[in-house]
Amino acid sequence: MSTIINDIEIIKAETSKIKDIDFDNLKFGSVFSDHMLECDFKDGKWQKPKIVPYHPITLDPSAKIFHYGQSVFEGMKAYKDTNNDVFLFRPTDNIKRLNISAKRMAIPELPENYFMDGLKALLKVDEAWIPTNEGSSLYIRPFIFASGNGFHASPANEYKFIICTAPSGSYFSGKVKVLIEETYSRSANGGVGFAKAGGNYAGQFYPTQLAIDKGYQQVIWTDDNTHEYIEEAGAMNIFVRINDTLITGPTSDRILDGITRKSIIAIAESKGIPVEVRKITVKEVVDAAKNGELKEMFGAGTAAVISPIAGFGYKNEDFDLPELKETYASLLKKQITDIQTNKSEDSFGWRY
Ligand code: COI
Repeated sequence: MSTIINDIEIIKAETSKIKDIDFDNLKFGSVFSDHMLECDFKDGKWQKPKIVPYHPITLDPSAKIFHYGQSVFEGMKAYKDTNNDVFLFRPTDNIKRLNISAKRMAIPELPENYFMDGLKALLKVDEAWIPTNEGSSLYIRPFIFASGNGFHASPANEYKFIICTAPSGSYFSGKVKVLIEETYSRSANGGVGFAKAGGNYAGQFYPTQLAIDKGYQQVIWTDDNTHEYIEEAGAMNIFVRINDTLITGPTSDRILDGITRKSIIAIAESKGIPVEVRKITVKEVVDAAKNGELKEMFGAGTAAVISPIAGFGYKNEDFDLPELKETYASLLKKQITDIQTNKSEDSFGWRY
């Protein structure tokens, strides 16, 4: 039986899987809520989104997603406070970024209200799936892919926009050791590095596996031209603290405009932390590590929020970061998660 909420058709699952979920031991993104949003682009326009039971999708083997990787995605989270009120964090930024990514990948842009009205309806239906345990949230994965058929290497004429959600615990547990990459690149000038295109992530798997084989967990991406500048950390933006100054690279067509990244910059500045948004050379990080000025490095992204780095490898040498009692990483992580989960004032107006 279907109902309509805010003009969105809702077809409910006959049974719920929620009783099978161990909310005290959630991994990241491995169990999925009862419903999903589905919306098709066909006949030259986006059709109305629907909320339907979570289900596998059937595609023709010639669907262009399989051959040409025409797909983009977003990552967001829903939180519940102690009154069971539900919050999103800067959702409009995700909607805008999805369309920026879509445009670069020649995917038709999605009407913003289809995303937002659909997401609100989905969260209403699956509200019970939003975890309340400390450090857990409902990870939201909106994505668009080319469902249209044919081997011709050109944009598809049909697409699917789906939002599915996964009650999730933390992305990484503990600090990670990273390898500064000297051979492979994540992105290039004029490329798609700024977009959340699926292939950007697939392209990281092989170099990351090589780093894992050497005893690291993640790769620090450097610029494709000289490998002299630090750009991103795995699938996250990177921050480096030299003495008291927090530094992150400027966004460009190689670096993702991370929502956590820009929130951290704003929070740090509001706390009086000196912040520099500028290119960071590998040399200055190595020199700072050698002379004791390198205090912290961390990755920042929606999934992991802030992921502290314990040490890094570069040109067959390993460098450990100091174990500080009070870190920018923990201060900033607390500030941002307190805003997200309605534990503190939100002077920035980010909570939704
Ligand atoms: C996120 O942080 O949400 C991302 O999109 C990274 C993803 C690869 C888990």
